Amino acid sequence: MRIGILTVSDRASRGEYEDQSGPALRELLRERFGGDVDRARVVPDESAEITRALVAWCDDEKLDLILTTGGTGFAPRDVTPEATRAVIERDAPGLVQAMLAASLQKTPHAMLSRMVAGIRGRTLIVNLPGSPKAACENLAVILPALPHALELLQGKDSQHQAVD
Ligand code: MTE
Repeated sequence: MRIGILTVSDRASRGEYEDQSGPALRELLRERFGGDVDRARVVPDESAEITRALVAWCDDEKLDLILTTGGTGFAPRDVTPEATRAVIERDAPGLVQAMLAASLQKTPHAMLSRMVAGIRGRTLIVNLPGSPKAACENLAVILPALPHALELLQGKDSQHQAVD
């Protein structure tokens, strides 16, 4: 399993503060998914930079899973969902619906995230919000379904399994 975490943040990319969400997601994956992260990068909230990084990790590096964190809200420079839509070939709305439903139980502000999830080739891309808390809360929701999702993407002949 090859995983990338793309942190999208103007300020973290300028070094004005340290990226905390990328490492927090990495730790959660290590604890609950048993996988390490192969690629981690910080890019500014620039559509071209986001799409370039996503395409390289999908097409050249052939990662299985890319998590983005940040830039999913309503601020003028929040463009991660649009950049993700530009590169995915198939939508994965169920993941987003599950994250939103669970997040709304925690905060009404969950409805302010415009997260997108989808598939390019054999890579699953999932947007997560920017704060470490929000990113981890959302990732925790989809973790139980990820092993089966990634098996299916690889075209493996897998059995449908209960996830709880
Ligand atoms: N989802 C969960 N589970 N927990 C949170 O604290 N914060 C919300 C939302 N989703 C939050 C959450 C807030 S305050 C915003 S503005 C949006 O995610 C978008 O965040 P982003 O712009 O950092 O991507």
